[in-house]
Formats: sequence, structure tokens, C-alpha cells
Amino acid sequence: MDIQKLKEIDKTFRQFGIEGEDTFKIIATHYLNIHTPKKVSKELRAFWNQGLELLELVNEDKIARQTLELIITSDLYGEGLPILYQYFLTKRFRDLSGKFFTPKSLAKIMTSMLPIKNGAVIYDPTCGGGTFLLEASKRWTNKECTLLGNDVDKLLVVLSEIILLINKQNAHSLNLTNLNIYNYSNEVTSLSGKVDFILANPPFSISVESFKTRSKLFEKGYRNSDALFLDFCLQMLKPSGHLVCLLPHSIIVNKEFEKLRLVIEEDWEIAAVIVMPEGTFNSTSNTTTRADILHLRKRSNKKHVSKILFGNVSNLSETISNNIEFEHLNDLSIILEELGIDVNSEK
Ligand SMILES: C[S@@+](CC[C@H](N)C(=O)[O-])C[C@H]1O[C@@H](n2cnc3c(N)ncnc32)[C@H](O)[C@@H]1O
Repeated sequence: MDIQKLKEIDKTFRQFGIEGEDTFKIIATHYLNIHTPKKVSKELRAFWNQGLELLELVNEDKIARQTLELIITSDLYGEGLPILYQYFLTKRFRDLSGKFFTPKSLAKIMTSMLPIKNGAVIYDPTCGGGTFLLEASKRWTNKECTLLGNDVDKLLVVLSEIILLINKQNAHSLNLTNLNIYNYSNEVTSLSGKVDFILANPPFSISVESFKTRSKLFEKGYRNSDALFLDFCLQMLKPSGHLVCLLPHSIIVNKEFEKLRLVIEEDWEIAAVIVMPEGTFNSTSNTTTRADILHLRKRSNKKHVSKILFGNVSNLSETISNNIEFEHLNDLSIILEELGIDVNSEK
């Protein structure tokens, strides 16, 4: 959805004194009314009820109704809801919480780096609007899997639930939580050693002063969210489990992270490091943060990786957007070909 359309939607609802989060609620509620998912969490039920009350305020208005219909017609299954969330809750994105969503096309590429395993447990511990879980659900088609999502932001957990209930297959079970992954509660650690695949774009480089649980990287002096995130994933994965994530470019290249990289090599087999250019997140936020794709496998007594792929995507030519076709991703598609990955294959 382009910025002009978003502005028009904003204008339509402002006439009723509705703005920001409430506009997002009305739109999401319209999706819920159309798809009427059956088993919903109590948090989603409360959100839906609030949305219904707001919807009543605009229901009599022809333009407002047409606007909602247009949104649905252009995106029947609500895959663009994270974009609407970002637009209508911009304030949340202005703070330093590192909430920039992964463009759908990039999430699809990263998900295609995972092998499809029947019954896999797939986890995104910082799931935002559920983009990775949605791509995993598409990739697994009607094969069984468990989709686990978590986010510290309640509203994002609700957003993930909406998108996944509308889009996932019956063979996929879904469990979403609202926890702080840097605060190892019993609920957080209950997944230790149980996860096959982690897909994630965690918040970048947030400094963390104290951390109660054991973290090898934290003890080595890396007191930031990136280091804790890596140790967190190591704990959650089964031996040989896969982590495909985005991490700040500085981790890959800066001298200050040399020791961190050595620890990574002790604990993980490195399958791929793909350096991305600036502008990767242009379509979902105005951050210039550089992020790289990392594909790691938790070490076990078996060696899995015979060839490490180091890719440098110097040019995306067109910014990754939510509609772009993969053929246009240039360097990245060449790199994936090298890996034998066909992003459009569902096999
Ligand atoms: C960079 S965004 C990525 C969101 C989503 N995975 C995506 O790729 O579009 C990072 C997400 O991490 C969440 N987050 C930040 N700190 C967290 C924490 N301590 N525990 C769990 N989630 C957290 C934020 O709310 C945000 O949704």
C-alpha cells in the first residue's frame, strides 16, 4: 500500500475523531469480521470488541465503508496489516525500540533457507507482526508444523494472531506468547532444547546492563541485545537446529566483535553469512541500519556444514518492497541460486 493511500485512509477516519491506533483497530476488526476466526485468545477477543465499538462510529458513513472495502479488496488476507500498523502507530517506531519490520520478500527468502521437515517446531521469539511465521506457514503448505511466536509488545502479539489465524493451514498449530526474552522466566525457558528452527529479526544493539541467567557472550563483556539473543537461540534450539536471522552488520565486520565471532564458531556451525546493503528496510521504515542475514546451526556431535556461504549483496537495484518479484533481487537471487535455493519452490 503506497503512502498516498495510507494518507487517504487516515483522512477518512480523522473526520470521526478516530486516529492512530484506533484507525488500525477498525481496519483489523474489519478483517476479523470478514474472516471470523473461531478460536481466538482472550486478548484478541478484547481487541475485537473494542474494534467493534469503534466500527459502530463509522458504520453509517458510505466513504468509511468504501475505504474498508477497498483495503480488503487490495489485500484479502491482511498480509499488509503490519504496514498499516507501522503507519498508524508511528510513534512507537520513533522510539529506540528497534521495531523495524522485515520486508515480506526478505522474510520469504530467509524462510526458504530452512529445509521443510514434517512436524517442525518453528519459533520467532521477537515476532512483531508475524511476518516470518506467515512465510513459514506458506512454505510448509499442508505439512504439519508448530508455529511459535512471541513479542514483548501485546498489540503485536494480537496482530500476529490475526494474520496467522486468517492465513495458516489447519495442519499448523499456533502458540503465541507475550514475554520479554531477556528476562528468563519459567515460561521463556520452557522451550529450551525443543525448537527445530528459529527465524528472527530481533531488536538491534540495545544495551542490557544486568542479566541474571548465564550467557556466555554476556560474560565475555557483550552487554547488548544481539549477544543475548544469540545465546537465547542457542538455548532454545535442539542440537543441529537452525537459526536464520538478521543481525547488525557491525557484528560481522567490527573489530570489537572479534571475540563474539569466535564464540559463535565454538557453539554454532556457520552455514551462511549474507551481507546486505543499506536500504534493505526502506520499505518498512526509514532506518538506515544495516543488517546481514546469518544462517547458523547449533553444534551437535554431527557435522552438517561442508561449505560456508559468504555472500555480499552489493546491490538490490530496487529497494526490497512488499510487492517486488524475486527476479529483481539481483545479487541476492544469484547467491541463493549458488546455495541451490529456489525461493518460489514450495517443495
Ligand atoms: C526489528 S522488530 C522485528 C519484528 C518481526 N520479527 C519482523 O521481522 O518483522 C523486533 C521486534 O522485537 C520485539 N522485542 C523487542 N524487545 C523484545 C524483548 N525483550 N522480548 C521479546 N520481543 C522483543 C519488538 O516489539 C519488535 O516487534
